[in-house]
Amino acid sequence: SIAAHLRDHANKIYIGSALAPSHFTDAQYSTIAAEEFNSLTPENEMKWANVEPSKGKYNYGPAEKLVEFAQQYDMIVRGHTLIWHQEVPDWVSVLSGDDLHEVMIDHITTLVTHFKGSIYAWDVLNEILDEDGSFRKTIWYNNFQTQYIADAFEAAAAADPDAKLYINDYSTEYSNNKSEALYNLVKELKSQGVPIHGVGFQTHSSVGKVPSDFASTLKKFTALGVEVAITELDIRLNGQSEDAQTEAFVEVVKDCVSVSGCVGVTFWEFIDKYSWISEETPCPWDSNYQAKPAVAAIEAVL
Ligand code: XIL
Repeated sequence: SIAAHLRDHANKIYIGSALAPSHFTDAQYSTIAAEEFNSLTPENEMKWANVEPSKGKYNYGPAEKLVEFAQQYDMIVRGHTLIWHQEVPDWVSVLSGDDLHEVMIDHITTLVTHFKGSIYAWDVLNEILDEDGSFRKTIWYNNFQTQYIADAFEAAAAADPDAKLYINDYSTEYSNNKSEALYNLVKELKSQGVPIHGVGFQTHSSVGKVPSDFASTLKKFTALGVEVAITELDIRLNGQSEDAQTEAFVEVVKDCVSVSGCVGVTFWEFIDKYSWISEETPCPWDSNYQAKPAVAAIEAVL
């Protein structure tokens, strides 16, 4: 029988990976990416410092390569990310007040407009909360307190009314202060009519750390009237067995599949060889391009 691929099983949710076009010269990498996934996220190519390294001078090439790859292989694209405290270019980090606000709106408007029609969802805001649930003291918060939040969503919605607009963060899969703060924030934004449509759970996890109540957390968020997605999944081995890692992958995918309103799972690179985490083999493919047992096990629960 012909081996089926993840995307062939992905009827209820999409299954994606962060990809980097710098790896496309690696034929095994691009073959697996095209065969297995029906969604991709640019790993770095849409981040501010990469896409607009100097004011008004956009470097769209690498991001466009990914969008073309997605079109060629019938994949959707998650745009990542408009506003973050990392990858803020130097020319932006020296600004403040009205000047900073103006370039923020301009950046969002220009980038979202450029890719309008090819992006399923944008991570409008990334990692704006601290572990204790307070707002992270970023250049954005320090200048505008929380007002930039609605402004960023409004600007993105004006530029592409069809894209799903997300807030994205890590360590929010747990029942903790950060997850609670995120919930309250999304609730507040919804009640104010801010155009927010989704909550991304990065889920950079570790064997033994996937919470047993993850599905109920996802469900709780969907009750606010937003969709949810697992946006950056990787599971560090944490000294445990590959079988335990398989179980952890299956658990997360099952949690998403079981919640109506959980629309997809994206791995943060699918292959250990190119993971941003250089140790602890956190991906479903090993560095020799072999699918780990996790892949077949995930197919079985999709
Ligand atoms: C990471 C990339 O994978 C690395 O290549 C880069 O050097 C740093 O950023 N949370 C996010 C992602 O939202 O954008 C980060 O990606 C990983 C953590």
